[in-house]
Amino acid sequence: MASANQPTGINRQLTSYGDPEFSRYLRRAFLASAGYDRTDLERPIVGVVDTSSDYNTCHRNMPELISAIKRGVLEAGGLPFAFPTISLNEILCSPTTMLFRNLLAMETEEMIRAQPMDAVVLAGGCDKTVPAQMMAAVSANIPALCVVTGSMITGDWQGTRLGACTDCRRYWNSYRGGEISDQEIEAVEQSLCPTTGTCMVMGSASTMACLAEVMGLMLPGGAAPPAVTADRLRHATASGRAAVELATSARTPVDVLSPGSFKNALKVLVAVGGSTNAIIHLTAIARRAGIALSLEDLNEASKQVPLLVDCKPSGNGYMEDFYKAGGMPTLLKTLEPLLDLTAKTAAGLTLNEALQDCQPPGDWQTTIRPLSASLGPTGSLIGLSGTLAPNGAVIKQSAASPDLLKHRGPAVVFESPEDAAQRLDDPALKITPDHVMVLRGAGPIASGMPEAGALPIPQYLAKEGVRDMVRISDGRMSGTAFGTVVLHCTPESAAGGPLALVEDGDEIELDVPRRQVNLLIDNRERDRRKTNLKPPQLPERGWRRLYAQHVLPANLGADLDFLAPGPSEAS
Ligand code: FES
Repeated sequence: MASANQPTGINRQLTSYGDPEFSRYLRRAFLASAGYDRTDLERPIVGVVDTSSDYNTCHRNMPELISAIKRGVLEAGGLPFAFPTISLNEILCSPTTMLFRNLLAMETEEMIRAQPMDAVVLAGGCDKTVPAQMMAAVSANIPALCVVTGSMITGDWQGTRLGACTDCRRYWNSYRGGEISDQEIEAVEQSLCPTTGTCMVMGSASTMACLAEVMGLMLPGGAAPPAVTADRLRHATASGRAAVELATSARTPVDVLSPGSFKNALKVLVAVGGSTNAIIHLTAIARRAGIALSLEDLNEASKQVPLLVDCKPSGNGYMEDFYKAGGMPTLLKTLEPLLDLTAKTAAGLTLNEALQDCQPPGDWQTTIRPLSASLGPTGSLIGLSGTLAPNGAVIKQSAASPDLLKHRGPAVVFESPEDAAQRLDDPALKITPDHVMVLRGAGPIASGMPEAGALPIPQYLAKEGVRDMVRISDGRMSGTAFGTVVLHCTPESAAGGPLALVEDGDEIELDVPRRQVNLLIDNRERDRRKTNLKPPQLPERGWRRLYAQHVLPANLGADLDFLAPGPSEAS
């Protein structure tokens, strides 16, 4: 908690002129120009982080959301100050938003620190915005609440419901396979994203919203309402009101978060069949809170919790179905026997108290399943290790092909996402469905860890009806993607990890039941190849150079080393 003697409101974080009284006087003078008088300035101040951008279609409803949050702050007697930060949209940001997640986190943290506010409401939505804001909130350590823009509602094409981006990929694969025409893919393109909001499947954005809620950094019921609903606005207003109470309580994210919060988050992640990206984000947030989180924790959660939520890409439904079925409060009630109920919420309650009035799933719906009738077995998301990933890798088992979970095949190697894009469809490579496609140069140091891991099926195989193959990389994949895809191999190839040693034709073993991913070459050959490795060339300047020099590996959250001292070094 913040100290009782700390200055509050407009008197916090004074501009440094060597004369605090002068600083206060000057602040009042400049704020008078915006119409604020001394009575206004006695109120608690709530900063409201605004991530609107014309480039971020997922945040198109942000202005309305920000006004709703501000209305809530005013209703509760606070004074709202909205301020912008960079905004990251998955689809319009090159080479990948992951390269900028830490930049957004750093900018948000510093702006929270630099400007006077007693609490902050962080309005995000698209994939990297929510984890970046949570990382920032933990490090800035003032009272904070997350609000998201909410998901899009589903589209429709020829009587079939459509959702970004699982169905984007499904139809694109059909188009590459020659099953649908140019005109048809254009019609699909126009129907995939019919409203404002984030992707309406259980992709990274929806997953991170659910995790913010279970971790107590979002008011109950805030994750699931679609962007266009009145509930979305009501939640924003309620968050504004709650932020004023939080400002007075001075309860910070570090007070709220505990190891139990993160273990609960992993259980929700598995239950919703959520995005593999969330594992990296949770690890980064945990390290900032001085809490250790590992793939063993994920496997422990995965062992206990089955798939309970029927949302694409692991199931068939969409976020609006999850919302109508009761959303996170209903899911948490279902998971209650498996959760750490002593974990806290920003409202100051324990999870046990917060769940008192929640209802388990009704039998009038099928989207949220009870533990007694789960949608799938345990283990929807699991950590792997082995000679190809000594420090870990992950696979979304629930979105993989069961017949490929135990597979041996020859490697076909791509040096980078660009190399794959150029050569993958070349019939001269003679790739068969038994091949294992290996992508390197897609880790954090090499290229900011793009979502390139779910390589497309080579077109000539797609035309023969092949829809899945084993793919292995040090990159990520979109939370909306599916297939037998091993991701986040650590150490990455650019750091000299074993992925850098693979050659075309090497035998690769994937054995998900044994949690293994192995390169089957002998040690002498491995050592010989190691001597030929060359360190990667770093970007010449700017953020990209700083990032490549300081980014931590995926198993440590891919934060920057100087921003995340981690559990052992944290004070
Ligand atoms: Fe923004 Fe999917 S692109 S959430």
